[in-house]
Amino acid sequence: MTTPLHILITAGPSQEPIDAVRFIGNRSSGRMGVAIAAAALEAGHRVTLLLGPVAVTPPPNATTIPFRTAADLEALLREHAPRADLLIMAAAVADYRPVAADAEDLRQRKIERAAELTLRLEPVPDLLAAVAASARPEQRIIGFALEEAARLEERARAKLLRKRVHAVVANPLATMDAMGVEGQLLLADGTVRRPPGWPKPIGKDEFARWLVREARGLWT
Ligand code: CTP
Repeated sequence: MTTPLHILITAGPSQEPIDAVRFIGNRSSGRMGVAIAAAALEAGHRVTLLLGPVAVTPPPNATTIPFRTAADLEALLREHAPRADLLIMAAAVADYRPVAADAEDLRQRKIERAAELTLRLEPVPDLLAAVAASARPEQRIIGFALEEAARLEERARAKLLRKRVHAVVANPLATMDAMGVEGQLLLADGTVRRPPGWPKPIGKDEFARWLVREARGLWT
């Protein structure tokens, strides 16, 4: 048996508060990341799961830490990433959030109905790129990319290079609501790994087991 790894997995959406009751979110269910956590545990690895607000139940043997906002996740990554051998960043982090000064003011209030409402948004820092920039040479990092099918590989590869990660799981947009996945793993050396039977979609559990096995190859 190969040495067990400490795998840090992020899953689910972030929620960026607009006021006391509303937020900007996305449709991520967290199921893919939770399936990866279960597969990693099944393979004998130690798992820390940073989990956004989702309905799905995390595996009992993972150390699960909840997050809500991208800022929460950023702080958790800063604390936990240095201790992990491998980071699998499946979380769907917001790209924009209400401007900090406005959010501060509105957090205790509920915006009332008016003829028009303008929200000022600011970009959320790229958390994956930040972790990758401060990673140790022996650590490995896998990102996710959800892309339109027509330019999937090209865009996912650009993301891999921009964020300087070791690999990216590239999924077509349709994956979001589907039970099955037709993902592929793009590696920094330019190669592409595909699960058996690809492009036939496979279950998220099966894909997760395949991905955890493939991740082992990142050290060779
Ligand atoms: N990600 C991140 N921080 C963000 C946004 C995304 O760490 N603020 C991570 C995601 O967890 C994922 C990867 O980056 O692993 C790709 O996310 P995606 O939203 O597809 O990429 P973006 O960089 O936001 O690019 P775009 O939205 O322009 O496609």
